[in-house]
Amino acid sequence: MGTARHLLGTDALAVEDATALLDRADAMLVTWAGSPEARKGTLLRGRTVVNLFFEASTRTRTSFEIAGKRLGADVVNVSAAASSVTKGETLLDTVRNLEAMRAEVIILRHPASGAPSFVAARTGASVVNAGDGTHEHPTQALLDALTIRRKKGRLAGIVVAICGDILHSRVARSNAILLTKLGATVRFCGPRTMMPREPRAIADVQLARSLDEAAEGADVLMMLRIQNERLGGAMLSTTREYSRTFGLNARVLARAKPDAIIMHPGPINRGVELDTMLADSARSVILDQVEAGVAVRAAVLEMVTRAA
Ligand code: CP
Repeated sequence: MGTARHLLGTDALAVEDATALLDRADAMLVTWAGSPEARKGTLLRGRTVVNLFFEASTRTRTSFEIAGKRLGADVVNVSAAASSVTKGETLLDTVRNLEAMRAEVIILRHPASGAPSFVAARTGASVVNAGDGTHEHPTQALLDALTIRRKKGRLAGIVVAICGDILHSRVARSNAILLTKLGATVRFCGPRTMMPREPRAIADVQLARSLDEAAEGADVLMMLRIQNERLGGAMLSTTREYSRTFGLNARVLARAKPDAIIMHPGPINRGVELDTMLADSARSVILDQVEAGVAVRAAVLEMVTRAA
């Protein structure tokens, strides 16, 4: 099992620690598939975990809360929109106040890239990055890696096409870094205006010129939502045009391996980046990703509290 006190990104995550987290999360999923009693542990009894979210979330916030409760922790949710941040309190003062209440783990989602690292350097609590700006979303990448490993039996040699708004996607960044570390081949594909200037500075990725090219022989098609909240200006012609060029449909899927799986971190914009029938089809593992997310986040909570 990993030994880091914080989880700030996939960049600094050693392969051994990532593998240990995946193994632990996998074991939890097996245990939790049993009776409801099997989903109630005591490892973190007496510990306080705070979900501190400065951006909207359904999956990440809820799954951290469920994960903490399954381990016996007290979990508190703080939404910046309903906190004294709205009265001008700084991020650091907010964190110091939570620390004074003996919060031992702070799960932080923030629109500014680097916010979790900034906080981690200035608090005695463990900090887990729940998504920071366009930078990283490490637990999303871990849950995606776990989902692929459970569906395909391995990560080494698996071809993962990540398609859409790569430029603004912390999910794409974290997945590219983690999946290539673990031996998968990652292909990026998206509109020119939504591609990073130097994609290979992120990781050793392949670049596809079209969605057809990205899908060719792929094991995994991971579709991304356009991050409208981070666009800051017109970067695509129309939604219909985007869907026609970069939306996954049955014709494009036919280019992938016959057993290729469809992934999406959520929230899905149905009919834009992903055909709605495909989103609900047997090839879609989107809800498996969500289930894996609870286990991955529990494994991360175990890791950071053990190291604290
Ligand atoms: N994938 C993801 O981060 O979803 P939420 O924004 O709902 O947490």
